[in-house]
Amino acid sequence: LNDHAREQIEASLAAHAGRPGPLLQVLHEVQDRLGYVPAAAVPVIAEALNVSRAEVHGVVTFYHHFRQSPAGRHVIQLCQAEACRAMHCEQLTQHAQRKLGIGLHETTADGRYTLEPVYCLGNCACSPAMMIDGRLYGRVTPESFDDLIAPLS
Ligand code: FES
Repeated sequence: LNDHAREQIEASLAAHAGRPGPLLQVLHEVQDRLGYVPAAAVPVIAEALNVSRAEVHGVVTFYHHFRQSPAGRHVIQLCQAEACRAMHCEQLTQHAQRKLGIGLHETTADGRYTLEPVYCLGNCACSPAMMIDGRLYGRVTPESFDDLIAPLS
C-alpha cells in the first residue's frame, strides 16, 4: 500500500470506528475512496476491526460489488435484473462483451473500460438500462451502446 491508499483506508476505518458491524461499511468506503479494495488492505482492516483476514477476504470476494483491482477509466454497468431481462439485457450484455472483448467484472487491456453487472438501476420502465460512469441510460440497444461508448477515451 502506498501512503495515499493507507491514509484512505485509515480514514475509512476512522469513519466507522465504534459502530456495530462496520466491515461492510468500511469496505464500501475504501472502494469509494480508492476505486477498489486492494489485497493489501485486507490485513489492515482485519486488524483494526479485530476480525480474521479470512472474514474480510470472504466478504470482499462474496460481494461482486467490491473490485479487487482498479477499474478502467470508464465503468459500464449493465443491469441484469428482472425487468431488464424481460427486455433482452442478455443480448445487450453479449454484444457489450463481444464489442469490448472482455467478460463481466473485467477491464480492457488498455484500461479504458470496465464492464460490470448490476441488479436494478431503478430505471425498469426504460429497460434495458445501463450506467456509464454514474450516468443512467435506458432502452439501450446494441447500436446505442456503440454510439454511447464511441466518444469515451
Ligand atoms: Fe433493470 Fe430495474 S431491472 S433497471
